Amino acid sequence: GASLLASMTILSSAALAQTIGFSQIGSESGWRAAETTLTKQEAEKRGIDLKFSDAQQKQENQIKALRSFIAQGVDAILVAPVVATGWDAVLKEAKEAEIPVILLDRMVDSDKDLYLTAVGSDLVHEGSVAGKWLVDTVAGKDCNVVELQGTTGSSPAIDRKKGFEQGIADAANIKIIRSQTGDFTRAKGKEVMESFLKAENGGKNICALYAHNDDMAVGAIQAIKEAGLKPGTDILVVSIDAVPDIFQAMAAGEANATVELTPNMAGPAFDALKAYKDNGTMPPKFIQTESKLYTQKDDPAKEYEARKGLGY
Ligand code: AHR
Repeated sequence: GASLLASMTILSSAALAQTIGFSQIGSESGWRAAETTLTKQEAEKRGIDLKFSDAQQKQENQIKALRSFIAQGVDAILVAPVVATGWDAVLKEAKEAEIPVILLDRMVDSDKDLYLTAVGSDLVHEGSVAGKWLVDTVAGKDCNVVELQGTTGSSPAIDRKKGFEQGIADAANIKIIRSQTGDFTRAKGKEVMESFLKAENGGKNICALYAHNDDMAVGAIQAIKEAGLKPGTDILVVSIDAVPDIFQAMAAGEANATVELTPNMAGPAFDALKAYKDNGTMPPKFIQTESKLYTQKDDPAKEYEARKGLGY
């Protein structure tokens, strides 16, 4: 009797093991790689069987991955949507199959009924924090800004641009003189910054760089140095993510400020999913993570040490 009961218990807990599909964008940035690592770790901690799919930056690959997860009958789907539009059809298919979908770190333009919840930061707020930091830092002096945008059509690129513009809206002394995508990558950030520097008198017309992520800023810092200027001094550098490398640049005086985005989006997503599956608790439509500003005054060397190993 006891052994039958024990084997039944094992069976029922095995039956509860969740299979969750995760469609990741790719690995364009240090932040993205950390999110992947942490999602795998958080799944393992909870005994979740995670099916991971890397879309190599292509929405069509993400849509294919979602359709394959639906066909396999997974218990839930996590997706970090590369761009904001074009998700309606596949999200409807998941809904019809009664498979809850959770968005990670980026938003979609689709109807909110088509996904269970979204875990992410207030992307507009992040941009406005960066903008306000610049307003305070230049304290009324004229400042020409160049902007490196994230992936075109992605919600962070759209919202971080909007937020920064809101942050500097009342400062007539601050002007965005150039703005182009650097695709959230280090290589493209460097390449586009080189063209900005060339077009703006070797960089002498540029007072500050605003990059939609730290990786592009790190690439741009290299370009500024190669142009014979001092990043962090001749050209101020403000970006978003708070990856270890930007703290290293801040400790060296080559970057000035960053707004933190946590790479652990999966932890809150899995918790919300568990509550929903176990007792039908409906999560809020948006589970917001914190955004904190760090500057050179915040002991960047210590912040660098603190982040190493946290998925980075
Ligand atoms: O969606 C979040 C953004 O995507 C991160 O800021 C960036 O580094 C990543 O690639």
